[in-house]
Amino acid sequence: MNITVIAGGTSTERDISIVSGRMICESLRRNGHKANMIDVFLGSDEYENSEAFFNADNDLAKLADELKAKTKSVVDEAARREENREAFFGKNVLDYCKAADIVFMGLHGANGEDGKVQATFDLLGIRYTGTGYLSSAISMDKQLTKTVLLMNDVPMPKGITLRKGHKIEYVPFPCVVKPCCGGSSVGVSIVNKEEDFKQALDLAFSLEDQIMVEEYVKGREFSVAVIDGKALPVIEIEPLEGFYDYKNKYSGNTKETCPADITEEESKKMQSIAVRACNAVGIETYSRVDILMREDSEMYVLEINSLPGMTPTSLIPQEAAAIGVSYDELTEKIIKCSMDKYNN
Ligand SMILES: Nc1ncnc2c1ncn2[C@@H]1O[C@H](COP(=O)(O)OP(=O)(O)O)[C@@H](O)[C@H]1O
Ligand SMILES: [Mg+2]
Repeated sequence: MNITVIAGGTSTERDISIVSGRMICESLRRNGHKANMIDVFLGSDEYENSEAFFNADNDLAKLADELKAKTKSVVDEAARREENREAFFGKNVLDYCKAADIVFMGLHGANGEDGKVQATFDLLGIRYTGTGYLSSAISMDKQLTKTVLLMNDVPMPKGITLRKGHKIEYVPFPCVVKPCCGGSSVGVSIVNKEEDFKQALDLAFSLEDQIMVEEYVKGREFSVAVIDGKALPVIEIEPLEGFYDYKNKYSGNTKETCPADITEEESKKMQSIAVRACNAVGIETYSRVDILMREDSEMYVLEINSLPGMTPTSLIPQEAAAIGVSYDELTEKIIKCSMDKYNN
């Protein structure tokens, strides 16, 4: 197939997305597809036409480095385009997406994982991997996720959302402060005492106008991928220091165990919670559900990641490997069940 992998973009997870995109694209090529990667925001005018784009056997490692080097300038350019009401999509991006048999979504975070690109593609008749615009939007917004999941009896930590300028009356410590629509733990703080609360609010508000203050759940952290309605083995994540923040997520400073060392009953319950969470928001094809388990075995869903990381250290590839599914088989499976969306 001719496949356009879109990556990069303008979110706080831009660099991670570039790594995911590169890994995905290399894998698709190994699987025999004509695949190339493009930065959804920066675009490219390197190719004469889409055929040349798909046939290019360019060095993806080099491309990824070049795209990452441009990350700083993207912030200013994004502000400029927004101010001038210019399109988000970079040069030729939509043409290469339209020409593809399917677009592989290598994006993470805002303008990628939040459903806007998916909605645009729906209207343009472009096929893409992963779930649709509505479930993406709900999963991206931690407040909406809470509302929908709690309504469907999926347990989540208690929490409230705050808008800039709003005051909060009473906060039990420890608590967690996080942006409502962030990802990769960017702007997330665990606050143990009153004195640190303001700083945590300031940090989260520097990223978004709406944030969430949540009860801190003390326990172990897990993640469960759900592909085509079925849960993969549970993975446990233990940061060697502190919590599962950005640094620990991507520096390899965590111990990840898959299948997790929990009882069969706990594992089955976690998998069933993950599947129920996905069904509640209407996830199609695949996603990854993060779950905390307290010492008394009570489980709480933290969030649903509708375009989870696909880097070498990401969790879904590890969970797939635990049942003997290689990275290349995983990308192929994602393509297949994404195509099924359009064949029903
Ligand atoms: N209520 C909570 N209790 C305990 N730890 C939490 C809580 N909320 C978040 N965390 C920690 O912060 C990390 C990031 O939070 P999460 O809600 O998943 O946001 P993100 O979308 O940035 O990944 C989690 O993986 C977990 O380690
Ligand atoms: Mg998370």
